[in-house]
Amino acid sequence: MSSVSDAEIAQAVEILRAGRLVAFPTETVYGLGADASNPAALRRLYEAKGRPTSHPVIVHISDATDLPRWAREVPSLAMRLTERFWPGPLTLVLKRAAGVLDQVTGGEDTVGLRAPAHPVAQKLLRAFGGGIAAPSANRFGRLSPTTAQHVRDELGDAVDLILDGGACEVGIESTIIDLSSGSPMLLRPGRIGTAEVEAVSGLRVAQGTSTSPRAPGTLAAHYVPRTPLMLAPATDLEWVVREQAASGRIAVLAFSPQPPDSRTALWQTTATDAQAYAHDLYALLRALDRSGCTRIVVEAPPERDEWDAVRDRLTRAAAGSGGANGM
Ligand code: TXA
Ligand code: MG
Repeated sequence: MSSVSDAEIAQAVEILRAGRLVAFPTETVYGLGADASNPAALRRLYEAKGRPTSHPVIVHISDATDLPRWAREVPSLAMRLTERFWPGPLTLVLKRAAGVLDQVTGGEDTVGLRAPAHPVAQKLLRAFGGGIAAPSANRFGRLSPTTAQHVRDELGDAVDLILDGGACEVGIESTIIDLSSGSPMLLRPGRIGTAEVEAVSGLRVAQGTSTSPRAPGTLAAHYVPRTPLMLAPATDLEWVVREQAASGRIAVLAFSPQPPDSRTALWQTTATDAQAYAHDLYALLRALDRSGCTRIVVEAPPERDEWDAVRDRLTRAAAGSGGANGM
């Protein structure tokens, strides 16, 4: 279901070939795309995002047949995972092939690869014929965009073309599994859960630590709204809201409807299903962020596995609000 014309895809390909930037929809979030084989294009990409050049970007390819061009070793486990989950919201970190630019890998010996499922992304990749380096199309450390309008708000003139494919279905960034060291390690939780990867691989997936090399998505403070955000366990929500509302204008993101007596400026009720919640999360946080409130209080999601990815993003957003990481 793409509202993007063939003429727009052709224009996007021209822009990419000229070393310029195209924002495009994927099923997770919008990406800011550059030709992954063009150093000048990659410089422009880092500049537009305001991102330190030591951080690696994911190379987007149309399908697994392109893997050998980017990865010097494609373990059978990688093939099993791509057969099951590609195209889709799964990024694999593999040992990089010779010739893959340092600007892509952040100087690491590995490269992140993903075949996105969104029909516009697929069309673009097939028409372009090469790898497209694409971080999320936001300023470094901020919320990922899930609509074309979010990209405009974030990047304005820094992007040469935005392909509008509607709202992203998944709503949060891909699951990242590092396969470069033999045993699979989870670097970032996403729609595809650890249990699903374990079922296909027959191996336990280790949890990556926050010291995993150079993955900004794994910095404690990432995905931050501008308004300070705090998480409150369900059982404490009522008194936290009362306490916070006494000293400022607060916005609340909660599973339950607003109690009649609560004195909050804004109360947003969320989906109770983890996937629907993820779909809405960044758009809701952007809206709350613009509401002029002094604080956002979010009811903590359940401790169950299906909430891992959402809990990860919210925990980082709350950590970022503390300002400890100074991003
Ligand atoms: O869903 C997604 O993955 C989106 C869409 C656009 O595809 N992209 C995305 O890119 O989230 P970005 O750059 O915002 O986040 C990519 C994450 C970063 O944390 C980056 O450090 C990590 O992937 N990454 C990329 N290559 C890596 C590598 N070789 N080793 C470890 N981490 C890597
Ligand atoms: Mg990002």
